[in-house]
Amino acid sequence: MEASATAPSKGIFDSANLEAREHLVELLCKAYWMEMETVMSYLAASVNLDGVRAQEVKESLATDIEEELGHAKRFAERIKELYGVVPGSEGFAAEQSFLQPPDEQTDIVHVIRGVIKAETGAIEHYTRIVEETEGVDPVTQDMTIAILHDEQGHRRLFEGFLREYEIEGVA
Ligand SMILES: [Fe+2]
Ligand SMILES: [Fe+2]
Repeated sequence: MEASATAPSKGIFDSANLEAREHLVELLCKAYWMEMETVMSYLAASVNLDGVRAQEVKESLATDIEEELGHAKRFAERIKELYGVVPGSEGFAAEQSFLQPPDEQTDIVHVIRGVIKAETGAIEHYTRIVEETEGVDPVTQDMTIAILHDEQGHRRLFEGFLREYEIEGVA
């Protein structure tokens, strides 16, 4: 009768892991909101910016919007899989004060710095999720690592944009 002594583990879906699962859903909801706010901020910036030199940044942001929305969808789906509920719009609280439209719509550096800050925030939060899911939920960890990789790419690209302005002494 020793076979029934320990049931096979279902990992994060084990009832013994209820608390860990609920905590993870909270972290994923925060990630979901970060992505949704990024979609709003990048959409506004991709339209608002003026000037010949803004075109590259605008196009890059326009591409990112789709990627960030894709991230939001993946976080939402994972929240559902973990028996959580994807929050409604009343649960949203804006945090990207640094990514509000600049006074002058030719102020590309303001937007570049804002994007770098947003991406850095995402990288920090997703790194935390990767750490906290270690040995707990490899599926969420794997998904988050892929998204983290995207954010590192976004951040690196905008660091390059900023560097160009720094070299010219504009930033
Ligand atoms: Fe993202
Ligand atoms: Fe991003």
